[in-house]
Amino acid sequence: MKVMVLGADGYLGWPLALRMVAHGHEVSAADNFYTRKAVEEVGSWSAIPIPSMEERVKLVKEVFGADLVFKEGDLRDYSFISKFLEEQKPDAIIDFAEQRSAPYSQIDIDHAVFTMENNVIGTMNLLYAMKEHVPSAHLLKMGTLGEYGTPNVDIAEGHFEVEYHGRKDRLPFPRQAGSWYHWSKVHDSNNISFAVKIWGLTATDVHQGPVYGTRTDDMRDELLRTRFDFDEVWGTVLNRYCVEAVAGLPLTPYGEGGQTRGFISLEDSITALALLLEKPPEQGTMRVVNQYAESKSVMELAQMVKEAGDRLGLDVQIRPVPDPRVEAQRHYYNVERHVLPALGFYPKHNVRDEIPAMLTDLMKYRDRLVEKREAILLAGSKAGVEWRKTSSLLPRKAAARGFTQRSTT
Ligand SMILES: NC(=O)c1ccc[n+]([C@@H]2O[C@H](COP(=O)([O-])OP(=O)(O)OC[C@H]3O[C@@H](n4cnc5c(N)ncnc54)[C@H](O)[C@@H]3O)[C@@H](O)[C@H]2O)c1
Repeated sequence: MKVMVLGADGYLGWPLALRMVAHGHEVSAADNFYTRKAVEEVGSWSAIPIPSMEERVKLVKEVFGADLVFKEGDLRDYSFISKFLEEQKPDAIIDFAEQRSAPYSQIDIDHAVFTMENNVIGTMNLLYAMKEHVPSAHLLKMGTLGEYGTPNVDIAEGHFEVEYHGRKDRLPFPRQAGSWYHWSKVHDSNNISFAVKIWGLTATDVHQGPVYGTRTDDMRDELLRTRFDFDEVWGTVLNRYCVEAVAGLPLTPYGEGGQTRGFISLEDSITALALLLEKPPEQGTMRVVNQYAESKSVMELAQMVKEAGDRLGLDVQIRPVPDPRVEAQRHYYNVERHVLPALGFYPKHNVRDEIPAMLTDLMKYRDRLVEKREAILLAGSKAGVEWRKTSSLLPRKAAARGFTQRSTT
């Protein structure tokens, strides 16, 4: 199969590109290196050093004997994505190429608008380019479980049966996103659904929970590792806790810490995505998939990191801070999953067993993490103040207003 990975330089994109190569598929890939630049802007870097894309492509050739076709480009540029699809004619496309930080999207009008522009326009360009050049290709779009919010009922897998005033229908499950970033994903989901309806495209919309982990089985060489973000803006909760533990900083769950989300390991995430690509839905239909392995509260995660860290001699402290987010600190959370189990996928990893392996991997880079402690505490740091004043990746200069959120997804 010919697979195209968009956002291939990212935390998930790179391991999926490797998995597709390892499975013998012909892989093409694109990225505009936005995440590398944006993380640098907040005075941080990937905890695990990652080589340039040029070096990555060479390594793929050496380790797997495969040619990975890479093009630098921005999905907001229609001519770029249109030409790339026309050249490559992929059978399947996976789209990861988005701004993926909720706290970043909440900073102010510029960051909110940038998030909408990057994510919604990028997806619209891709949909139109698919219609023009590869109308029968399968689009696997990475959304998030955060699109649903935390309703006080079970969360259906995309659609559910509703009875209202004596009449029944199958309707999209309500979306109640909690940040502009999450709303951008809702808009993408709606746009994809509409494109499937009017043009007969084929799509899978994956609602995934936060991913954690430092490696996948395909990373046979240290240099094949993927990026691992930990700073206040770009690090997701469990990955950040692990770095905080290694860098000697306290773990800081918000408020009561009962905020519960569905987590999945990097290895399980990539295995599930590869399966969804290899088993597409019926042509001309849209499949919605809820993807996670286990639900945990942010306080449970902090306690597990503390226990594992203490066993490794790290002396980890947990110091809850007032919750700056508008969110329920305790709530019901049960997300249904049917598609992946029906395809034979069951997660093999759990948070408790993976944390010690992550801490051990990260301890190797302890000096590198300690050096960037300020980025973990960005809200009040000198780096944070400077960054908000000078952010150059935005379409307009950001008006400095300060962070109000940290990332769980
Ligand atoms: N990591 C998680 O826990 C998680 C959970 C749920 C959903 N997701 C979603 O999965 C996707 C990938 O997440 P990730 O953690 O790998 O993020 P990432 O930031 O590491 O990767 C995204 C990649 O896309 C690129 N990109 C961004 N905008 C682009 C554009 N306009 N044109 C071309 N390339 C662009 C970035 O440079 C980056 O390499 C995102 O859409 C994210 O919202 C991630």
